[in-house]
Amino acid sequence: MEHRWLRSGEEHTKRISFGADYNPDQWPREVWAEDIRLMQEAEVDVVSVAIFSWAKIQPAPDRWDFEWLDEIIDMLHAGGIGVDLATATASPPPWLTLAHPEILPVTVDGRILSPGGRQHWRPTSAVFRAHALELVERMAERYRDHPAIVAWHVSNELGCHNAWDHSDEATHAFRRWLELRYTDIDGLNEAWGTAFWSQRYTSFEEVLTPRLVAAIPNPTQRLDFLRFSSDALKEYLIAERDVLRRVTPDIPVTTNFMIMEGKNHAAYDDWAREVDFVSNDHYRFAGDQSFDELAFSAALTSGVAQGSPWFLMEHSTSAVNWQPVNQPKLPGEMSRDALTHVAYGADAVCYFQWRQSLAGAEKFHSAMVPHAGADSELFRDVVQLGRRLRRLGEVAGSRREAAPVAILFDWDSWWASELESHPSTLLRYRRDALDWWRALADAGIRVDVVAPGTDLTPYVVVVAPMLYLVPEKTVSELTTYVEGGGNLITTYFSGIADENDHVVPGGYPGALRELLGVRVEEFHPLLEGEEVLLDGDVRGSLWSEAIQLRSAETQVLRRYASGPHSGEPAVTRRAVGAGSASYVSTRLRGRDVLDVAAELLTVAGVTSELPAEMIGTVFHSRRTIGGTAFDFYVNRTDDRVALPGEEPDLFDQRSIPPRGVAVVRRSGASLG
Ligand code: GAL
Repeated sequence: MEHRWLRSGEEHTKRISFGADYNPDQWPREVWAEDIRLMQEAEVDVVSVAIFSWAKIQPAPDRWDFEWLDEIIDMLHAGGIGVDLATATASPPPWLTLAHPEILPVTVDGRILSPGGRQHWRPTSAVFRAHALELVERMAERYRDHPAIVAWHVSNELGCHNAWDHSDEATHAFRRWLELRYTDIDGLNEAWGTAFWSQRYTSFEEVLTPRLVAAIPNPTQRLDFLRFSSDALKEYLIAERDVLRRVTPDIPVTTNFMIMEGKNHAAYDDWAREVDFVSNDHYRFAGDQSFDELAFSAALTSGVAQGSPWFLMEHSTSAVNWQPVNQPKLPGEMSRDALTHVAYGADAVCYFQWRQSLAGAEKFHSAMVPHAGADSELFRDVVQLGRRLRRLGEVAGSRREAAPVAILFDWDSWWASELESHPSTLLRYRRDALDWWRALADAGIRVDVVAPGTDLTPYVVVVAPMLYLVPEKTVSELTTYVEGGGNLITTYFSGIADENDHVVPGGYPGALRELLGVRVEEFHPLLEGEEVLLDGDVRGSLWSEAIQLRSAETQVLRRYASGPHSGEPAVTRRAVGAGSASYVSTRLRGRDVLDVAAELLTVAGVTSELPAEMIGTVFHSRRTIGGTAFDFYVNRTDDRVALPGEEPDLFDQRSIPPRGVAVVRRSGASLG
């Protein structure tokens, strides 16, 4: 479906949308008119309304109050501001949980989560769903013909606080989900390896969610519960969406994903199929990798959206309120963060929230209009960003152009590789992907982040770090890719298990052993802080192992120069026709990834598209529409960076200021 959010009022204006979550119900009416005036000043063209308004819209089971919402939606429309209307189901009102405490979620150790915060509902609760869908239906009926509505915003960050529910209702739903997956109990016993520790079941009714247990929980039960929980939330999303599609078939439906550090409750590549356009929320965590992580998450969101434009539903103008110490953004960071999302495909830039709250748990979270009011540096920056986004109007609707290199990001491998009772508790799937992301950016390489199932043929190189869980289908996709001339790079703890988390026997890296032409008999994980040297002064950490070469075409690129496997192969490359399959058996970081990757990239024929002096200074991405390409250069340094070519960029810049972003248009002949 065409993303209708680009439409502002009656006019279809091509622009990068700009706005926020807007909570007028927290404010007296006098403030509303000022809000709209300030939104116009900042060139805001879309706001998400009513996300947490259930208790106001339905103050009692049989009372409905839409007048205030009618009024503000009309005011926004009159002001030329589109509405991304929430279904308002994110947080149930007190009367509902009082009457139906059986909708409250249950934690892994059997505690019931009480109301008083938000999102205190079970994804599988039939009672919750009946009440929520009635609200969705009434919202859809009431606003079906309102010209302000540009999209539906289902619930809010589904699963942010309630993803892993161990209630009886969840247990029941988990059993039904397992029955569909395995058909009979023997299938489950086989998949879960229940011959171990006397876990054999004789009926699905004996199965529980993986609750707090005396010893280590069954890993496949854990993995299936993660899959089930993602599916249960997805089913809930589909239930709301289907009501909306029935009543308002022309209004696109979205829900805000959480592709960001610290959130792993949903397989968003799978959810993306169920929405009309992908939306994401992203918040930065403090730390020296904070901005690299933002760019990585934006690229992964683009991968999940299959290269189509997506909607940045929330990020922050400055500090958040939920970290131990919440620091504001530095000058320039607000604009840089927003434009980096645009670089990786966002066609809308929105914030939590429009006006900073005076009360409640988020009163110290930044907003577009801060406590200090519109006479503030922050609001002036907001206004300036609105102008810049208007300037980027011609970029709207463009798609991400495939980069030369892709990082493969797989939710199943993420979940399974970090389960209990593994050779090391120090492994972090997402962090390893980020290591490669940063190193490739340091090398000046444009990189995509994609999910399994994505057509890999456009990519000269695919990096699949820690691809732990590899079903037959993935083995054959990767083999076809390599045999077709592609270059695969994978790392330690890859190819280990099948889709049931059973080890592939015969030596590691199991499912990928043949393709890589190597064999490993035993892992040797390293202690925290322990390092091993590889040839050429490269340092490895976390992992090491003795690699046996198993194919005549496998060459050794680096050997261990210290540690338990000194003198033995550490990095290998197997030539397969015009393609190759490379294996890195330890964790490499920073320059060390680069040293090794550079060699592999050079053989594969991938070189930086940047002028030499720009290499290492920017994130580079490219969006195209028709015959026009837009090159985005995001300055990662605190220095000014010169732009390639003579022409100024779309912001009339001839160089990129510290924490700045440049966008260079190229058409026809200048497209290499
Ligand atoms: C998101 C949420 C918003 C707000 C924000 C604060 O998780 O959707 O409602 O709470 O975080 O960072």
